[in-house]
Amino acid sequence: MARNCHSERSGPIFLPFAKRMSVRAVEESQLIVNSAVERSTRACGLRKPTIVIRSASRKSLNLPRGLCYFIYFLAQATMPKAKIFITHPLYPEAQTLLQSVCDCEFWSKQDRPPKEEFLRRIKDKEGLVCLLTERVGDDTLRAAPKLRIVSNVAVGYDNVDVPACTRRGVLVTNTPGVLDETTADFAWALMLAVARRVVEADQYVRAGNWQGWNFDQYCGTDVWGKTLGIVGFGRIGQAVAHRAQGFGMKIIYNSRKRIAEDIEKQLSAEYRDMNALLAESDFISLHVPLNGDTRGLFDAPKFFRMKPTAFLINTSRGPVVDEAALVHALESKKIAGAGLDVFEQEPFIHPGLKRPNVVLAPHLGSASTETRGRMANTAAQNIAAFFQGQRPPNPLNPELLKP
Ligand code: GLV
Repeated sequence: MARNCHSERSGPIFLPFAKRMSVRAVEESQLIVNSAVERSTRACGLRKPTIVIRSASRKSLNLPRGLCYFIYFLAQATMPKAKIFITHPLYPEAQTLLQSVCDCEFWSKQDRPPKEEFLRRIKDKEGLVCLLTERVGDDTLRAAPKLRIVSNVAVGYDNVDVPACTRRGVLVTNTPGVLDETTADFAWALMLAVARRVVEADQYVRAGNWQGWNFDQYCGTDVWGKTLGIVGFGRIGQAVAHRAQGFGMKIIYNSRKRIAEDIEKQLSAEYRDMNALLAESDFISLHVPLNGDTRGLFDAPKFFRMKPTAFLINTSRGPVVDEAALVHALESKKIAGAGLDVFEQEPFIHPGLKRPNVVLAPHLGSASTETRGRMANTAAQNIAAFFQGQRPPNPLNPELLKP
């Protein structure tokens, strides 16, 4: 049974204060200030207090406004903050927000925390801010019995077992909406790089091999005017389509659900079933989340249906593509090339992918300083809201929150 994970925290904090004020509503050793403080602080224009003393009774105390301010600030100043573990220093703005609300322990080494160390650090923590490299499953949850929220600093959350978290009443949040344009830029960077052979040419020049202009040197493939097939047409897929309009491309897409007609019109995008998209596209860009339906989505039969002149671009998740099948398609020239930012078993790169017609990147889709800052802030806002008794902006299992 999922326990409700609303962030009320209980404790005897008001008890001595209450005695001094001769407040009569003390019941079973717990002070009953919940509804009165909540109502009065709201009336004072304050947010719901961080600390709400739970009580057996819901009697109103009708405390005066000034006293409520006093109680509110006293409570904030004296109640111990929730302990959280953050697996990266993030950025100063996010750090400041987290530290204003929580008792923070940051992992500051470059390398990811080893599993044992990670489990040791979260043992007594109520909150976890983690990156997509941390796996949060049953073992993590068993090791962290006090855990109430996992704030993933990524939009994809295949690293977190959300159903297991839900079963244990642990809220999970992510960072949607802040990285769409940056990730779309990177899909385009890969597409242009592989089509126009930018990496090969760069290596050639750097190696000092260039002897002068040559009519036939590093001729690539045009991107403009070609057909772009987008698989997964959410925010990032649409941002990729938006850019394609500037390149005069024909845009076709496939997704679980067909999108609204007005958006199709705006983006000049036409829906295709998967087989039609595979057959028509000169470039295919993947933008689906990784889940049971999309794992291994791009397999041998799909490569077989692609044009031999077509390129595959993947900035979604590595396991969406069957890498062995992709290597085979490249080796047998079933497709022309690929631009890959994500891999089946990061950071392992299948040796068959290290070829001139494949551009490789170390999972950089959202890696601009501005966007990583926005992701860090969003993750911090999710945590801060939760421990302030507010609704976090991006819950993935909102059924755990009070309506
Ligand atoms: C990056 O890959 C993300 O999911 O945010």
